[in-house]
Amino acid sequence: MCGIVGYVGRASATGTNVAGDHQALDVLLEGLRRLEYRGYDSAGVAIVADGAIEFRKKSGKLANLVAEIEARPLPDSLTGIGHTRWATHGGPTDANAHPHLADDGRLAVIHNGIIENFATLKAELASKGHTFLSDTDTEVAAVLLGDIYRAIVEADAGTEAQPLSKAMQLASRRLEGAFTLLATHADQPGVVVAARRNSPLVVGLGEHENFLGSDVSGFIDYTRRALELDQDQIVTITPETVEVTDFHGAPAEGREYTVDWDAAAAEKGGYPSFMEKEINDQPEAVAQTLLGRSDSRGRLTLDELRIDPELLKSVNKIIVLACGTSAYAGQVAKYAIEHWCRIPTEVELSHEFRYRDPIVDEQTLIVSISQSGETMDTLMAVRYAREQGAKTVSICNTNGSTIPRESDAVLYTHAGPEIAVASTKAFLAQITAAYLLGLYLAQLRGNLFQGQIKDILADLAKTPAKIARILENSGQIKELARAMADTRSVLFLGRHVGYPVAMEGALKLKELAYIHAEGFAAGELKHGPIALIEEGQPVFVVVPSPRGRDSLHAKVVSNIQEVRARGANTIVIAEEGDDSVAAYAEHVFYIPETSVLLAPLLTTVPLQLFACELATAKGYDVDQPRNLAKSVTVE
Ligand code: F6R
Repeated sequence: MCGIVGYVGRASATGTNVAGDHQALDVLLEGLRRLEYRGYDSAGVAIVADGAIEFRKKSGKLANLVAEIEARPLPDSLTGIGHTRWATHGGPTDANAHPHLADDGRLAVIHNGIIENFATLKAELASKGHTFLSDTDTEVAAVLLGDIYRAIVEADAGTEAQPLSKAMQLASRRLEGAFTLLATHADQPGVVVAARRNSPLVVGLGEHENFLGSDVSGFIDYTRRALELDQDQIVTITPETVEVTDFHGAPAEGREYTVDWDAAAAEKGGYPSFMEKEINDQPEAVAQTLLGRSDSRGRLTLDELRIDPELLKSVNKIIVLACGTSAYAGQVAKYAIEHWCRIPTEVELSHEFRYRDPIVDEQTLIVSISQSGETMDTLMAVRYAREQGAKTVSICNTNGSTIPRESDAVLYTHAGPEIAVASTKAFLAQITAAYLLGLYLAQLRGNLFQGQIKDILADLAKTPAKIARILENSGQIKELARAMADTRSVLFLGRHVGYPVAMEGALKLKELAYIHAEGFAAGELKHGPIALIEEGQPVFVVVPSPRGRDSLHAKVVSNIQEVRARGANTIVIAEEGDDSVAAYAEHVFYIPETSVLLAPLLTTVPLQLFACELATAKGYDVDQPRNLAKSVTVE
């Protein structure tokens, strides 16, 4: 939700940037381009030039802002902030776009998050004579900051070295809710100050220049050195310094790390969309997630977990916490973890978890799954569980993000940056990582023989090549998707691990193609939803391997017949060699043979391809579906 970028560079004697030929505006626009997946309702930039703030902002996608700047160019500058918005308070209009100005137009502020006490603050500021131009909570924060800044400057007559940092400390203490705020002031060129509470912010460390970003993609073109911050911290960047304090000015330190991917990994690599690239990245995403996590004898070596093995042995319940696609990954993992480890495993939507008085104690292991590591619902649920004494493991794709930082242990998925708003490769990587965790627990607790674990790992290792085969043969499913571009509703059925896959297939279609789609447990159909079936209703059915448990396969084949008898147009995903389904299917898509539990790593792929191709055929932007944003940092 909302992308934020900040930049300061040092001018040489001739006025150029000693760090290179970077202009603040170029850095900001490049950062916003990479962060646009976080929100695209409006965009704006503010720079400090010739002792004044200059800004441009525009509703709609970043392209509108770029056109506005082309029409009304901005002067050269080495200090600035930029924002791309996912609207919360106030609609997506030009007036509500960030930056918001205060202190007679000399202070510019951008914000990600929600300021919960904005109404009280607004009334207080209005009573002091301040006026507001927008409906946003951000403008309230800007005016508050400006008010405090002015008071500091007037009171100490210029002795305060960093009045903006001081003002940010004081303002942050008055704000409730979640916020990352970035501010720059016309009187302090070469300085950008930021505050962080429950909302993402990373510092990019350069030579004679420094950066701020909602995540590292905001500055990945310029540096891979990053600094992680804690909650409730203020950071002040100048071209040569990065100073971190708490909200009371006490010095603090961030943790420096190096980003393990580069700018090229965050480009489309020749594909027409990030989504297509990321679907095609999946063999690599799974392979990378498996890499280095077992030894030649087939023993899991998850040393990075750093939780006392004795503690893991004593776990008597697992609760997986996640939202959306990540929650479906958790639902897939539940089948495997319970089967391999014999530990009762619940999967709970993070936003529901806290509010139901869950039973959690020291013997509960919380496994959170989050691509971004910033999803507020999941973060809050993890915090709650920790307060109750549970141990928390984070499965996450984003190094340096908040959820792993606040968890006892982390198992990173190595899917690489996921830019398309709807998740694809992270899903397969999450399932892979959760399987590794399940096998590790089974190994520790002796639930499986070492040979069994070795065999499963060997099967997992073959998965990337099988995904690649599905991708090579994607022509048939894409053709069907194009032919179905006018479809108004699609149902998805699955049983066992195929059930969450069906729900994920439906979610992809909803978010990318804006088509009504539902995923059902195949057995549930006759308890109601079968009433939806009418002549020609498209129904995808995810069929389990006939080599697995017979009953499972046979039941799903019966379910296909039930819907077909009522006129459904049946589209079946089945294993190669499964001849039993062809007679009941309008279309069959075959996936390579694999074990029942590993099948989701394959059966999901045709459903992703279908949704992506259908949405493309309808002319939709598959990378930035309407109303959505990646990294949902509000509750
Ligand atoms: C759907 C999608 C979302 C995310 C959900 C959780 O395609 O991307 O449903 O899965 O918002 O996000 P993370 O995994 O970042 O916590």
